[in-house]
Amino acid sequence: MSTHPLDDPAVNPFDVAATAALEIAERTGVDRHDIALTLGSGWGKAADLIGETTATIPAAEITGFSKPALEGHVGTLRSVLLPSGKRALIIGARTHYYEGHGVRRVVHSVRTAAATGAKIMILTNGAGGIKETWTPGSPVLISDHINLTADSPLEGATFIDLTDLYAARLRAIARSVDPTLDEGVYTQFRGPHYETPAEVQMAKAIGGHIVGMSTALEAIAARQSGMEILGLSLITNLAAGIQKTPLSHEEVLEAGREAEPRISALLAKIVAEL
Ligand code: HPA
Repeated sequence: MSTHPLDDPAVNPFDVAATAALEIAERTGVDRHDIALTLGSGWGKAADLIGETTATIPAAEITGFSKPALEGHVGTLRSVLLPSGKRALIIGARTHYYEGHGVRRVVHSVRTAAATGAKIMILTNGAGGIKETWTPGSPVLISDHINLTADSPLEGATFIDLTDLYAARLRAIARSVDPTLDEGVYTQFRGPHYETPAEVQMAKAIGGHIVGMSTALEAIAARQSGMEILGLSLITNLAAGIQKTPLSHEEVLEAGREAEPRISALLAKIVAEL
């Protein structure tokens, strides 16, 4: 039997998030956070660049968080004091849908961020690019998404509008920092296998430009919690079949490492404008 609180259907996931937020306030000494960032592959160094880290907590010590499943994903929560005086909560611990623990665990960090007071949720990831003009190592804005997981973080008859899910206001701010930033529609597959070339062509045909295994479900939960969302993908590779060589996790990590200083600096500049 699982002892994870979110695995009990009788438990309200928002209560678990509220408990986690209280623990974060106690452990960090910060009552409210203003902004939250989930840092995916390639984006980790932004944590050091946006401000002064005042507390670091192993995420697994906070209620509802799961142990990191993947190398390259730092399992910590950090509280950062921005030069503006605002507080950022940095989530370096993402639970992926493909881990099979259910969507509640996937979106717990986002719900916790909202419960700490965050009004803006920045979701970043490493992903495959469908647009042939993109080169590995390029950051792109997420303009919208297509959720191909056939799942939702919403439970019951909860009808939530997803128009302008990835806020045009925040994308404009990001583009004021880097006018060369392109944008595209993020398509979330379940994974953990990469897509087949045929699936990539399907994603393209239905309007996708980016393929990945995270973010869409998190964005839906962030919207449900009333946060404004900024989504950024690092294109670590061209998607299967667009790039002619086979994909490898090592290649994805390497592209992330190579791009990290550059895109982390960009993200820090964007955060300074929020
Ligand atoms: N597909 C899905 N997820 C990914 C990819 C990809 O090509 N690259 C990095 N994450």
